[in-house]
Amino acid sequence: MARHLITSAIPYINGIKHLGNLIGSQLPADLYARFQRARGHEVLFLCATDEHGTPAELAAAKSGKPVADYCAEMHGVQAEIAKGFRLSFDHFGRSSSPQNHALTQHFAGQLDKAGLIREVSEKQVYSHADGRFLPDRYIEGTCPNCAYDKARGDQCENCTKQLDPTDLIDPRSAISGSTDLEVRETKHLYLRQSEMRGKLNDWIDSKGDWPLLTTSIAKKWLNDGEGLQDRGITRDLDWGIPVRNGTEDWPGMEGKVFYVWFDAPIEYIACAAEWAEANGKSDADWERWWRTDKGADDVRYTQFMGKDNVPFHTLSFPATILGSNEPWKLVDYIKSFNYLNYDGGQFSTSQGRGVFMDQALDILPADYWRWWLLSHVPESSDSEFNWENFQSSVNKDLADVLGNFVSRVTKFCRSKFDETVPAAGQWGAAEEALIAELTTRIHAYEGFMDAMEVRKSASELRAIWVAGNEYLQTVAPWTVFKQDPDAAAAQIRMALNLIRLYAVLSAPFIPDASASMLASMNCDDDSWPEDVTAALSHLPAGHAFDVPEVLFAKITDEDREGWQERFSGTRD
Ligand code: MF3
Ligand code: ZN
Repeated sequence: MARHLITSAIPYINGIKHLGNLIGSQLPADLYARFQRARGHEVLFLCATDEHGTPAELAAAKSGKPVADYCAEMHGVQAEIAKGFRLSFDHFGRSSSPQNHALTQHFAGQLDKAGLIREVSEKQVYSHADGRFLPDRYIEGTCPNCAYDKARGDQCENCTKQLDPTDLIDPRSAISGSTDLEVRETKHLYLRQSEMRGKLNDWIDSKGDWPLLTTSIAKKWLNDGEGLQDRGITRDLDWGIPVRNGTEDWPGMEGKVFYVWFDAPIEYIACAAEWAEANGKSDADWERWWRTDKGADDVRYTQFMGKDNVPFHTLSFPATILGSNEPWKLVDYIKSFNYLNYDGGQFSTSQGRGVFMDQALDILPADYWRWWLLSHVPESSDSEFNWENFQSSVNKDLADVLGNFVSRVTKFCRSKFDETVPAAGQWGAAEEALIAELTTRIHAYEGFMDAMEVRKSASELRAIWVAGNEYLQTVAPWTVFKQDPDAAAAQIRMALNLIRLYAVLSAPFIPDASASMLASMNCDDDSWPEDVTAALSHLPAGHAFDVPEVLFAKITDEDREGWQERFSGTRD
């Protein structure tokens, strides 16, 4: 039995995520976690909300709530939606937890001890009306290059010129519109990442098995241009983790907080501590997942994320861990994804474009989305959601292939025999051939799932469903029954056992349908089929079952057109 630590990139707290966010990390991570559990391995699967930073503060202000209340509420909303999608986190934590406060301050202290922190004096814009320093992109003004009057302090959207806030003509606060701004000198902490370039390079080079998407992005940041830059890890904000050196005050850093990208990945660790606390476990219980001196040396740690997150996970977070000089577990494998687009454009949270997780669950059960998203995951390139494709995949794969198989077999058995597994007859050549094909395909499926080849896993699973349909088509029990009811009985016994086998194999993709299939087979043994012949003899003669409700309803053209229309604009 192996031990798998699995984390998904933690979603920002401000607002409900769209399907592109879901398929970019949480859903494939869930697939992998469910598969490893099904194989009998020990799994700790963690995710959390990413709660700090300016966007969280502004979203809270917009909703008229104190930021702590806003975050608590949105955490609840996101946790509920995650449940709706059957994301099987062992814990869904919060980067604002006391555990993350303590650990983030601890890491900063360790990095300082190692000589990896330096203080930098910076000029920053302070807004009197807003009572705060303004991050670059929250300062607006006229572009000195093209005279566009809504240029941001980091860049002009119109002519793309990179800007400093002090370049802007007539600068104003993007929050309040106030022009009562002042440039102030303020001190910040920088992490000397550049010192760790060699160490990080060697570590990445040792990961020969990582996907190209992951290593190419890491290498680009490591070697391009000026290479790995030192980065500011503190901010002048109210909401965040107060800057402390371990448990001590940090002189000169009063009133400042750590930068959200410094504390967010540390939440992967803190989340394990939150999990322990929430489940009445001890520190040793979570440390055996995270400390190589306390049992984590045999843990396999896999991270899932979208490609925009790769630099933070291949460079910044490892720099924090390596720089701490403490025996924390480093990631073993990073699975990253491209983007999912929406109907000829991009999903966009700020513009409300696309289908959001709550809306998706309003119109169809989770399994429909899980199947489509996972079987079209943007693995080797960006991919696109469109309604025609969604309708046709759901109708073909789920309704025609899998759903129809289950309904045909159970209804035929009920009408010709009974709602019990028939006893008569023997298996012959057709069954031997089916078992041989399934044995090969299940091995291939296991291999793809282990390797996190998500699309290949989905198509192998579909082929496993198709094999059952083809078997049924070939042996044709409804015809055989007329001359040789015993032979038909043996065929149906096989087919009923296939339903159970499909439930077990399909559960990582479509957990609810799998549970209904198992329930209708009156069976709670969902053990993985180590031996296909044995698995297909699992339901004995005389075992009672129920004909299930329709597993997957087809999406009609009318449904599709309605949804297309409803989601063509932007959400309110
Ligand atoms: N919230 C970030 C995003 O959605 C991901 C943070 S992942 C972590 O892009 F490593 F920082 F935790
Ligand atoms: Zn411009």
